[in-house]
Amino acid sequence: MPSWYSALRPLLFRFDPERAHRLAFALLVGIEHVLQRRGQTARPWTHPSLQQRLWEIDFANPIGLAAGFDKDARAPHVWPLLGFGFAELGTITALAQPGNPQPRMFRLARDRAVITVNVSSPNTPGLRDLQTEEQLGKLVAVLQEENLALAHQADAQPRPVLIKVAPDLSAEGLDAVARVAQRHAAAGLVATNTTITRDDLLALIQEPGGLSGAPLRARSTEVIRHLYRATAGTLPIIGVGGIFDAAHAYEKIRAGATLVQLYTGMIFEGPFIARHIARGLVQLLQRDNLRNVRDAVGRDA
Ligand SMILES: Cc1cc2nc3c(=O)[nH]c(=O)nc-3n(C[C@H](O)[C@H](O)[C@H](O)COP(=O)(O)O)c2cc1C
Repeated sequence: MPSWYSALRPLLFRFDPERAHRLAFALLVGIEHVLQRRGQTARPWTHPSLQQRLWEIDFANPIGLAAGFDKDARAPHVWPLLGFGFAELGTITALAQPGNPQPRMFRLARDRAVITVNVSSPNTPGLRDLQTEEQLGKLVAVLQEENLALAHQADAQPRPVLIKVAPDLSAEGLDAVARVAQRHAAAGLVATNTTITRDDLLALIQEPGGLSGAPLRARSTEVIRHLYRATAGTLPIIGVGGIFDAAHAYEKIRAGATLVQLYTGMIFEGPFIARHIARGLVQLLQRDNLRNVRDAVGRDA
């Protein structure tokens, strides 16, 4: 963590998490406006060993911003400036909802984790039921039909559709998701979302909702490994859950992730975390005599 962020973080952490997020975000949106006014497009930090092409998209590095941080796509040009190789923006929803009553975000400083009780999937009643083979199959089939129809209209290729899984699924549940993804030609899997379990926490927390960050790290890596094996490495996996440094990102890549994402790590380590991780990954690849990040994918699966 850079020293300026170690100085700023205690101040930021005095605010309740939602307010701190709003404050930090206001600054990022300000930078976005300046970039847009100047017509500037920043390039993410890159190195030949980190460059990959997937789904006909060039990735300058494999570190992405996870879903939920920039829900309304308000700072799209800022993420590459901070070093991110890609960013998951949105969620897009037909019927917007105000969310759960506040406070609904809880920072567990000693556990290096964040709970959200807003829209991440554990908090939407019934949403996780969609992960059963039958329900998920129907949903992905409809999405892919629509995807094909839209592509046909626009005389373009269909968009890559990725399925994001919960870390709390059983081995059979994960196998079912992998089967659906393959049967319905999903472009990849995202593993994982937040967890509803509260194992090994230092804090005594009663709040329901999804837990992210460090306590999720090992489980999400296990899920990545399971999915990589279940699909015999044929489907790209975006690994997410508890990434705070290059070693954590590398562990997920070696377990089977082609790309990685983070959310909570940025809150604890500061806005340039992606750049730090990218630099660290280059060194780890060199240490292991690997020419490109793709050569590391699944080595420990
Ligand atoms: C406050 C908050 C909001 C989130 N919102 C979403 C969301 O809207 N959609 C989604 O797929 N995941 C959402 N997530 C889950 C993250 O994208 C990510 O999968 C999870 O936090 C694990 O990564 P992390 O440990 O790096 O935070 C959210 C997470 C947090 C902490």
